[in-house]
Parts: sequence; structure tokens; C-alpha cells
Amino acid sequence: MTTEALPIRREIRFLLNGRDVSLSDVPASRTVLDFLRLDQRLTGSKEGCAEGDCGACTVLVGSLKNGALCYETVNACIRFLASLDGCHVVTIEHLRGSDGSLHPVQQAMVDEHGSQCGFCTPGFVMSLYALWMEQPEPSLEAIETALQGNLCRCTGYEPIIRAAHAISRYGTPASDALEAEREAVRARLEALRDGARVVTGPEDNQAILPADVDDFAAAYQQHPEATIVAGATDVGLWVTKFLRPISPAIFIGHLDGLRQVSLIENTLTLGAGLSYTDSQAALTEHVPHLEAYWKRIAGWQVRNMGTIGGNIANGSPIGDTPPVLIALRAELSLRKGDHRRRMPLEDFFIDYGKQDRQPGEFVEAVHIPLPSDGQIDAAYKISKRRDEDISSVAMGLSVSVENGTITDCRIACGGMAATPKRANEAEQALLGQPWSEATFEAAAVAIARDYTPLDDWRASSDYRMMVTQNLIRRFWLEHGDDAKGSGSIRLSA
Ligand code: FAD
Ligand code: FES
Ligand code: FES
Repeated sequence: MTTEALPIRREIRFLLNGRDVSLSDVPASRTVLDFLRLDQRLTGSKEGCAEGDCGACTVLVGSLKNGALCYETVNACIRFLASLDGCHVVTIEHLRGSDGSLHPVQQAMVDEHGSQCGFCTPGFVMSLYALWMEQPEPSLEAIETALQGNLCRCTGYEPIIRAAHAISRYGTPASDALEAEREAVRARLEALRDGARVVTGPEDNQAILPADVDDFAAAYQQHPEATIVAGATDVGLWVTKFLRPISPAIFIGHLDGLRQVSLIENTLTLGAGLSYTDSQAALTEHVPHLEAYWKRIAGWQVRNMGTIGGNIANGSPIGDTPPVLIALRAELSLRKGDHRRRMPLEDFFIDYGKQDRQPGEFVEAVHIPLPSDGQIDAAYKISKRRDEDISSVAMGLSVSVENGTITDCRIACGGMAATPKRANEAEQALLGQPWSEATFEAAAVAIARDYTPLDDWRASSDYRMMVTQNLIRRFWLEHGDDAKGSGSIRLSA
């Protein structure tokens, strides 16, 4: 780890629509939305909730990920300005043609009556724009997925969905300015990379952007009191809702070294900095039962920002990834300076708000053994709303069957205890038992001894327990006929 000779840069540099921007003294807690609306007077992006829920602030952020330029929707209200270093920000103001004409997405929204009061409209347009660039002829499912993170209180969604289907009548992505300029923008962003560590902001609101993962390890060892900011989908709310200071903040969302995916000896390793979106393809290919579950996490913008590492490191008892990863026997890599250690993911969660992580130590990667033959996996999420909602209960199950007998099993739940936690009693009720309805009924009864669930506004304790027992029964109903249990079976979330 040799970082001493690294140059330090005191300003952040990025592209805003068509122009270069360079800013010094950027406070760590300054949000992109405040910068756009208050400093730049780009008021097309709206503030509805300031917590990533409504999508009115949606902008596109283009960034280089392992060399490729990738545009994604993000919530400007919880994204921090400092994290834009090396990126291209595209706001609603950039969509109008040079002759003042409307963009195909905007024209489709007008013609299909997709807007009433208009407050949510810029956000919808940006989400539809991102979808259209990826899929010019999207299916209804793709449209609904792209709009999970956009709320409209007055138009109703039917006209907006009609508009989404109609966009390609007005133009093609190939002739869109962003597509036409893709290579030029990629080169401009590449040129902004100088291998420096960025340090900006006043002493009491400082942002540090390490040059690479080694530099991150060094900076965090130097400042163990720092707030790590990955996707900012938790930390953003600490600032906008709780006015919490986060200085010094070490931003890691740009580090390619934390965004690696590898498959070695039947173990899938995902870098902690991979967003939900970035990790989707690898999971769909290797752990397919998580595909539908992943799409139930938050909405599209938050999935583009939030990282697996953040979801684990925050230690939340209601995070969606820990239960399903624990059920899959995942392990965690932690790093402090040059020292690395590895542990079963379940051991990381000690108690509410307490994880096995030392000062200056960070989550580097998660390792997921691929499902073996005879292993049946399922992942369930129960929430009040289908989309953009936190789980009341999340459950991962992994059951191995040989010749009609259960030879191995793991059940882990979120929302049922102070930490994500395995259901040992239910597991014991399954282990060594015949693959039968009676066995799963016994496990459904036994799981009541595993948990004393939370009782809060999301769900009552009784509801959580009943749902958890029913998820075990559901697993049997969906898989009872699959007596031999061949391979990893995909189940819906
Ligand atoms: P950040 O906000 O950047 O950081 C979160 C915490 O982890 C901080 O304490 C930070 O210091 C620490 N941290 C981050 N990376 C590391 C690392 N590599 N090593 C050590 N510490 C680290 N969550 C769900 O589980 N399911 C949902 O459905 C869901 N819906 C949401 C909807 C909305 C609108 C929002 C705003 C959030 C939602 N969340 C949901 C919560 C959030 O998306 C996740 O917890 C997310 O995974 C956090 O990751 P992040 O990269 O954004 O973390
Ligand atoms: Fe609601 Fe940003 S203002 S998501
Ligand atoms: Fe009014 Fe959507 S048009 S909130």
C-alpha cells in the first residue's frame, strides 16, 4: 500500500449538461439538488421528499465504470455534490433541442396527457429517458420497474405508461444527443481522471475522495472517525432529515476496485461498492432466485446508488440483503489498512447497532458459494407496498434434499430480531427429516421459538410472526412437488 506520493487535488471537476464545472471548497454535506436549484438556478429538478422516495429530483449521472460510460437515474436530493467528481450530470434542462423543440420523451408525455400539476413530471421524464436509452420498445414490466421510484399524486399512471410506450414514435436513441456524444463525453471524463486524492470542503465539513482502494484503506486508517459514503442512500437521509454532521466523509462510490465481480471455484465474489443494479446481472446468472427479489429493493434510482456493502455495513435489522445472503452461506471480507479478514456474514451482526468491525476497518467484498445440486433456494420480501418499501419481514431459505431427506438447511430472517438472524429451531425441525408437508408444518411451529419480533408502525409483532410461519408453508407449497430438489430453483419474491 503506497499512497504517500499521491497528489492531492482541492477541487472537484465534472460535466454539467454541456459544460465543464470545477468547484473548490465543496462541503461534504452539500447535495446535488441544492447545488442545481440554489447555486445553478436549474430548478427543473424538484424537491418533493428529500429522502429518495418520490423521484421528483431524478437526474441522470453518467460515470465511468471499469472504463465504460454508464448513465443512470439517481435521486439528486440524497446524492452528495462531492461524489460527482469525474461524472456527467444531465438534468431535465438538457433535454430541449437547440431549436427549443421538445425531446421525444417530453413530446410523448404531452401528447399522452402524462402530466397535470407537473411537479413530478421532470422526474418521470428523466426515468423514462434512461429507460428509453436502454430499451426503446420497453415492456410494461420494464416500464413499471423503471418507474418504481417515481410518485405522481394527480395524473395517474396510465397516461404516463402510454407515454412510455409511445416515445419511440418521436425519435430513436441512436439520434439522441447523449448517445451521439457518448464517445466524446467518455473521453472528457477519462481526461478528468488524474489519479489524485481529492480533499475539499471546510475543516468541519470535509470530503475526501480516495484515488483508489489502497488510498481508501490508508485514508480510513488515518481518519477512523470518518463517515464512509458509498451510495448515500442511508447517509443522504442522515443529512437531509436529521441534519447530522458527516465530516470528515470518505466517498467511495467511484472506486472501480470495490466494484469487481469474480467467480472462483464456485464462489461468486461481489465487491462491496457494487450497486444493486451493478450486481443484478451476476446474481441473475449465478443465483437466479435473487433476480425478482433484487427488483423489490427500493426503486430504480436507489438501486442505482445503494451498494451491497452499505446494506451490510449499516447493520440494519431490516436490510434486504443480509437474510438472503446468510441463507446462502455468504462470507464477508473486511479490510483495515493492508490487513484482511474473512468471516461468515451472520457473525458480523453482533447486536442492534453493533457489528464486528474495528475502527478504520471497512467491508471490502461478499463471497457467495454457488448453489449445489439438490439445493432449493428461495427469497421472500413482505412489505406494505410492492415497490419502494422497506421490508416488514424478509426471509432467505436454502434447503438441500437427498433421496427424500433434508440433509442441510438454512433459514434467516430480517425484521424479526435486533439483527438479521438465523432460525435455529426451525432449521433443527427440518434437518434429517423427510421432505414432507408435515416436516415443514413442524418447522413453521418451531420458528415461533426463534424470534421475538419487533412491534412497530411497519408491522405488529403478531403479524410478523404469522407471516414468517406462513412463508415456511409457502416454501413447501411452491416446492413440495420438487421432491428431488435438483439445483437452485427460482422463486418469486
Ligand atoms: P451509504 O448510505 O453510503 O452508507 C450506509 C452505511 O454504511 C454508513 O454507515 C456508511 O458509513 C457505511 N458503509 C457504506 N459502505 C461501506 C463499506 N464498504 N464498508 C464499511 N462501511 C460502509 N434498503 C433495503 O434493504 N431494502 C429496501 O427496499 C430499501 N429501500 C429504500 C428506499 C429508499 C427510498 C431509500 C432512501 C433507502 C432504501 N433502503 C432500502 C436503504 C438503503 O438503500 C440501503 O441500506 C443501502 O444498501 C445502503 O447502501 P449505500 O451504498 O447507499 O450506503
Ligand atoms: Fe423526493 Fe428526491 S425529492 S426523491
Ligand atoms: Fe401532479 Fe404528478 S402531475 S404530481
